[in-house]
Amino acid sequence: MPDSKSGSVTLSVNGSRVSVVAGATVAVAVAIAGQACRTSVSGEPRGPLCGMGICYECRVSINGMPHCRSCQILCQSGMDVRTDG
Ligand code: FES
Repeated sequence: MPDSKSGSVTLSVNGSRVSVVAGATVAVAVAIAGQACRTSVSGEPRGPLCGMGICYECRVSINGMPHCRSCQILCQSGMDVRTDG
């Protein structure tokens, strides 16, 4: 849901406040926050690859729910997004 009439949505990524245009995916918010979505078993930062819900490289935790595909979920005001989820 957009914040008032601004057309933007404000949420939290690893505790940092991020504003995105309404309709943006969580993957966009994570990128704007300068974060990787997760870390591979060898310690490499990972982010969106396919952008269509198949690869799961973009998974994060949203409001405590792990393994959410950030490329498939639209940002909502007040979301708490945590990477490495
Ligand atoms: S980028 Fe592949 S599932 Fe999200």
